[in-house]
Amino acid sequence: MTSENKINLGNKPTIQSDSDSVTIIDNKTQKRFDLSVLSPTVGDRSIDIRKLYTEHQLLTYDPSYSSTASCDSKITYIDGERGVLLHRGYTIQDLASKSTFLEVAYLLLQGHLPNQNELSTFTNTITHHTMVHEQLQFFYRGFRRDAHPMSIMIGVVGALSAFYHDSTDISDPQQRMIASHRLIAKMPTIAAMAYKYSIGQPFVYPQNNLSYAANFLNMTFAVPAEEYKLNPVVVKAMDRIFILHADHEQNASTSTVRLAGSSGANPFACIAAGIACLWGPAHGGANEAVVNMLREIGDKKRIPEFIKKAKDKNSSFRLMGFGHRVYKNYDPRAAVLKESCHEVLNALGIRNQPLLELAMELERIALQDEYFVERKLFPNVDFYSGIILQAIGFPTSMFTVLFALARTVGWVAQWKEMVEDPSLRIGRPRQRYMGEPQRPYIPIEKR
Ligand code: ACO
Repeated sequence: MTSENKINLGNKPTIQSDSDSVTIIDNKTQKRFDLSVLSPTVGDRSIDIRKLYTEHQLLTYDPSYSSTASCDSKITYIDGERGVLLHRGYTIQDLASKSTFLEVAYLLLQGHLPNQNELSTFTNTITHHTMVHEQLQFFYRGFRRDAHPMSIMIGVVGALSAFYHDSTDISDPQQRMIASHRLIAKMPTIAAMAYKYSIGQPFVYPQNNLSYAANFLNMTFAVPAEEYKLNPVVVKAMDRIFILHADHEQNASTSTVRLAGSSGANPFACIAAGIACLWGPAHGGANEAVVNMLREIGDKKRIPEFIKKAKDKNSSFRLMGFGHRVYKNYDPRAAVLKESCHEVLNALGIRNQPLLELAMELERIALQDEYFVERKLFPNVDFYSGIILQAIGFPTSMFTVLFALARTVGWVAQWKEMVEDPSLRIGRPRQRYMGEPQRPYIPIEKR
């Protein structure tokens, strides 16, 4: 092995690496282990440590997985330093401006952009799976009207496996595909029903003559008493928001879906697990938190006060919609959304745009601040999405639901890819045990 790097970690192992292998020298035992380095088609190389434990009884330690590639994937590529996001090789900017959500969904699932015939067949399939079992509506009645719609989503999506038994055998490719189509098709219906339930309006059934985004808007905002007029700018913006949230490689919720699926759990249960993870404010829940934060700031004059709080290590406050584990540059999705924000607000005739103006000023000030510059903290996808969603008429509690709706296609594509990988084994991380060593049991009278 020709050594390029030699990393001495004191009492920890020394690591030497070249292009296709690394040698670890355990300074404690002086043992040497050669490990191969795997190359991707694009991006960072990874050290293959799969046999490190069985052959050398050494574990690696990476609690939040910052340096861990957990799988092989062909779906999405992110270059966080340059702010690049590719789905199956296509840039997110191209997809957001030239494709529809269902084209992107097909791309994520099948690996190539559909031709006209393939797209028509796929659209037809999704459209004809949008209705949910009539019995499912009774689930909603069991929830309090003021329940957070994400809690309803977790329950109802998890319950799908109780309704669609004929697509839960994950060893059957046909059933895997049907379950994938069902999830993508039914998620807008389930999300719209969660909203309707919360405001006490009747559920609106899907309409097969409408596009995916238009159908969702109709199920959300139409009422039986009068005609609902769809605004094409809003439909386009909704579709674009879905595209921008469709997939993002091995983020927390996708990894949750994969881990749940690695045990052989059915896809409906796995996606319910993904929704639960997405809900957290450090992940998908941030879009709701951004709008709440902007409302709390209220006035441009108060921005410095909030910036100061975000930088204060004694405060748990963070600038919501800022920062990302992988992007150390402007999140390309945030750039597209910022543009869409102006388009939608103008098309809706909203002249007074205090939240957008506040957000842009907050961004301007943060991006000039040494703290944010040093740490490479830029706006992420959640920073501008909430402003558009609010302008369209969604309450903040629905923002993360829309994220879940769109991300379902990514979860499903990643789940399918994993299940179809012949090297699949159950995911089972290890730990660094920091508790008591074995000790004698103390009878209660002596404690
Ligand atoms: N405001 C203030 N400081 C921040 C922020 C923020 N939004 N984000 C990160 N930092 C600081 C951290 O305090 C840390 O500072 P230190 O080095 O002085 O300790 C440094 O930047 C690195 O941050 P980490 O927390 O180590 O980064 P991590 O990768 O673990 O977290 C995360 C990423 C969770 C997205 C974080 O940036 C955050 O909490 N952002 C706000 C919530 C948010 O917008 N989430 C949406 C993410 S995108 C998505 O899921 C769709």
